[in-house]
Amino acid sequence: ETMNETLETAVVSGRGRVLPAAEEALMQQHLREENLPEAVLPACPVNRVLKGQKALVTGANSGIGRAVALALAHAGADVVVNYVSRPEAAEEVVREARRCGARVYAHRADVSKEAEVEAMFRRMVGEFGTIDILVNNAGLQRDAPVDEMSLADWRFVLDVNLTGQFLCAREAIREYKRRGVRREVSCAAGKIICMSSVHEVIPWAGHVNYAASKGGVMLMMKSIAQEVAPHRIRVNSVCPGAVRTPINMEAWGTPEAYRELMKLIPYKRIGEPDDIGRAVVWLASDESDYIHGASLYVDGGMTLYPGFETGG
Ligand code: BGC
Repeated sequence: ETMNETLETAVVSGRGRVLPAAEEALMQQHLREENLPEAVLPACPVNRVLKGQKALVTGANSGIGRAVALALAHAGADVVVNYVSRPEAAEEVVREARRCGARVYAHRADVSKEAEVEAMFRRMVGEFGTIDILVNNAGLQRDAPVDEMSLADWRFVLDVNLTGQFLCAREAIREYKRRGVRREVSCAAGKIICMSSVHEVIPWAGHVNYAASKGGVMLMMKSIAQEVAPHRIRVNSVCPGAVRTPINMEAWGTPEAYRELMKLIPYKRIGEPDDIGRAVVWLASDESDYIHGASLYVDGGMTLYPGFETGG
């Protein structure tokens, strides 16, 4: 009872999970310099819309994956925290998610390895009985000019970002088809949410392996969505813009970099991991039941061709 009360009044994001002072100051200072209104981060009540559902989040020990795992736990889901390195970071996410009353454990698996993915799903079905929500999040960058990019770096990024999503989606679909719909849990037999990027449509010089992987995620997601829809399996993507995580620290770590970054973001603030967490919770819940095969951009308008604000 007490736990439920605290959960109902808790906030997932914004003022509830306060930004480090330096980061907040940098964000607001930029807006003052530009004579723009202060940025207010949302403080949303937690609704337990995923109560009892079983979720797997890949790459959940840092960045967006971590925020997604915690948002799902706040929304009432039991969560598997997948990771490949830094087990202590995964355990920290597990500890924090357990405070929501969720069943949680960490599982090490390289999503680009078929046998490791199969074993991860086998264990999850063993421990939790089934899976309702897959968040295909694990992803990375290995940047280089195209003529200097090694085949190893090309393959590594495609293996993790694209093949990894395929392998996990395949296992989830097998379980969703086997089990079917349980109407007391969800309208759908299962949900898959792919973590894509604005770079599924925005070309990105110096990042051809990454952009190719996300372009691939777009049509992989949509083709799977078309194929499995009759089985009541719902498949969508979230496409983050620039979100404050370790992957792009050089784009927001200094005032100069932050100022440059804001030229690409009409909403004039960097994304926070919780912005993505909330979108994933909604896409995983029955509130979005008729949304299928969609790429949901969560990007502060980055895909609006901000260069045309003044040009053209
Ligand atoms: C990349 C980030 C980048 C963002 C916007 C993401 O997919 O991983 O490094 O800041 O797109 O360009």
